[in-house]
Amino acid sequence: MAKVVVTGRIPEAALEKLRAEHEVDAWDGEQSISREELLAKVPGADALVTLLTERVDAELLEAAGPQLKVVSNVAVGYDNIIVADCTARGVRATNTPGVLTEATADIAFGLILMATRRLGEGERLIRSGTPWKWGMFFLLGSSLQGKTLGVVGMGGIGQATARRAKAFGMEVVYQSRSEIDPAIAAELGARRVELDELLAISDVVSLHCPYGPNTHHLIGAEQLAAMKPEAYLVNTARGPIVDEAALAQALREGVIAGAGLDVFEKEPAVHPELLELENVALVPHLGSSTVETRTAMAVLASENTLAVLRGEDPVTPVN
Ligand code: DGY
Repeated sequence: MAKVVVTGRIPEAALEKLRAEHEVDAWDGEQSISREELLAKVPGADALVTLLTERVDAELLEAAGPQLKVVSNVAVGYDNIIVADCTARGVRATNTPGVLTEATADIAFGLILMATRRLGEGERLIRSGTPWKWGMFFLLGSSLQGKTLGVVGMGGIGQATARRAKAFGMEVVYQSRSEIDPAIAAELGARRVELDELLAISDVVSLHCPYGPNTHHLIGAEQLAAMKPEAYLVNTARGPIVDEAALAQALREGVIAGAGLDVFEKEPAVHPELLELENVALVPHLGSSTVETRTAMAVLASENTLAVLRGEDPVTPVN
């Protein structure tokens, strides 16, 4: 039996799979495990099942010991893992692509609707007890029909968001490292463009690229200024892709019309200026947060772990 350390609370279905074959030591605190507790928990582990709140680096891998074989992240994003440090020690790293695609695209589209139709503002107004009644010019938003969605990062989640946009009558352009499958591009009517063109012609820009050194502050003051003043920015990928201070300034000064954010630069902190602005919808990293999706993510992470411990290739490796 190998020792599997699970660094946060995960659905029971996934724990059962792990317990059927191995000894499992799972963190059960309501809050994320602290760095000190994590470093104290991992020595002797053959496998780590990690959440995106835990940083996996040389220090942690060292603390675990040379018997460690796999780090299975319960997330599609793995910017919390220094993959090179894993590879250098012969440790497999895995993520959970595919299973959270639709749930995350739902939240991206939810934020598009919240921002363009001012749903958060409307809800805050009612809850505040402010008197209101229907009026011709009351809380007017912006229609999606006939507008252009610009998808930055056209992987599975970007494509699923584009599919929703098509159903809402939007045109789709995308920026991506490579062309997508021509059949999917044709189905979506999606055209690949450079980021500059995407920013200039899109009415809604939705971010779906991974976070890393190449995408740090991909959207800053210059890129926001390149967008139309009536356009919206939505981020369900990773917070630091957007320069939050520049975004707050752009929203305050009307450089763009509005934004919707599920992720934040210094998560869970939110830039204080964003909290003061009406034209930004803010939700707390809910992209994958459905019972079905979180269960599927944790089960996939368990399958990756079990495969490596059996000496097989993981289902969804990142190294
Ligand atoms: C992921 O899997 O990377 C998501 O951000 C989790 O919600």
